[in-house]
Amino acid sequence: MDKLVIRGGNPLQGALHVSGSKNTALPLMAAAILTDGPVELTNIPDLKDIDTFSRVIQVTGTSVNFDPVGHRITLDASGFDRAEAPYELVKRMRASFYMLGALLARAGKARVSLPGGCAWGPRPVDLHLKGMQALGAKVELDQGYVVAEAPGGRLQGGRVTLEPSSVGATINIALAAALARGESVIDNAAIEPDVVHFCTMLQKMGVTMEGIGSRTLHIQGSESLSPVAFENCPDRIEFGTFMIAAAIAGTPDSPVRITGGWTEHLGSVFMDAFERTGSVVSADGDGLLITAPEELRPVSVRTDIYPGFPTDLQAQWTILMARCAGNSKVHETVYPDRFKHIPELQRMGVNAIIVGDEVMIEGGKQIQGTQVMSTDLRASVSLVLAGMVASGETHVHRIYHLDRGYERLEQKLAGAGIDITRVSYDEWADPE
Ligand code: UD1
Repeated sequence: MDKLVIRGGNPLQGALHVSGSKNTALPLMAAAILTDGPVELTNIPDLKDIDTFSRVIQVTGTSVNFDPVGHRITLDASGFDRAEAPYELVKRMRASFYMLGALLARAGKARVSLPGGCAWGPRPVDLHLKGMQALGAKVELDQGYVVAEAPGGRLQGGRVTLEPSSVGATINIALAAALARGESVIDNAAIEPDVVHFCTMLQKMGVTMEGIGSRTLHIQGSESLSPVAFENCPDRIEFGTFMIAAAIAGTPDSPVRITGGWTEHLGSVFMDAFERTGSVVSADGDGLLITAPEELRPVSVRTDIYPGFPTDLQAQWTILMARCAGNSKVHETVYPDRFKHIPELQRMGVNAIIVGDEVMIEGGKQIQGTQVMSTDLRASVSLVLAGMVASGETHVHRIYHLDRGYERLEQKLAGAGIDITRVSYDEWADPE
């Protein structure tokens, strides 16, 4: 297994580049199943999750060719012959459940493993199933699998209300609706940038859609769709993570340049909160300059659906707050128990406690390097951020979580002055 060893205290300097979005790349790849012929996607990050989803798609007889250096992937579903997503692959990544909508659209039937829970608690798929049923599918559960079938081999289309608004369910239902006989309507649809960018690709493939980026999405099913070339958008969560890294580890006299990100995808709530910490954001050609203040100010946040503060940035925000002189709160409303990073941060001397769905942080304490363990993707990166500003060495174990969603993180940070190395280790070795 690999761990990251970080010797804290080096300033972050120079530039960081944002890779393509993981969460957008996955539905773009699923959309390729809806057409015969090569779909070429660019700005695809070289990540474990992209590899896992490529394998899920290959099970269907679709060819997948990834050029990790050119960040280009070509998928061709001309050889499609199997409407299944097996447990062995789906268990590795929840987003594999997008196969349900894609397979129902393509083949009129699907057998997809239920994804189960995840590291920070239960994550239901009831809205995905409700959506497929509303579009006309018969849905049954069989030994851990969802077995769905469209009567007559093609979905009719229909209307569904999502409560709460769900990114994954909106995408899954839109995939299913794209080749339905009639119109589908999703009420209270998600408007996250990942969803909007994905809908833009569906439109380019020939799906007639109205209300993209609004809470009511109308999708007119097509007889057939065309192969397209399409560019993925930048990863907004990596972008926000780098901004926080610059605020905590940058110096006031040397701004950090971040290239490749789109600020509008971060949403106004994050941008406002970030600037209220005293960090200065200025445009610089195709990038942003982040200047760390002499003293960070505490700013409490409450996560919410877009354009609210992203839940995927709250663990990182906790480190930013731990660096401020003063008290603050992080209130999580999307996944109320997404706090697995807190006990690990407490071991590093961060004074943060969980009270219900909030974390109370007393900032300004010295963060100390020690051995810590990754528990999920965003929790892992918060440990890396803590290690960058900690005294001494921090060893972040089990970084396979990090490798799922951050492309060559240690190389990017090392290139910007951070003392960070990847080391192989034996998880079960006795301490020396
Ligand atoms: C996606 C992102 C994830 C992010 C999350 C919220 C991907 C691959 N993952 O996850 O990084 O943290 O959006 O921005 O894009 N819900 C239900 N029933 C359902 C589905 C969802 O009750 O069938 C609830 C969830 O428990 C949660 C809320 O809806 O409270 C929002 O979740 P959702 O938007 O679906 O998250 P994901 O798409 O799984």
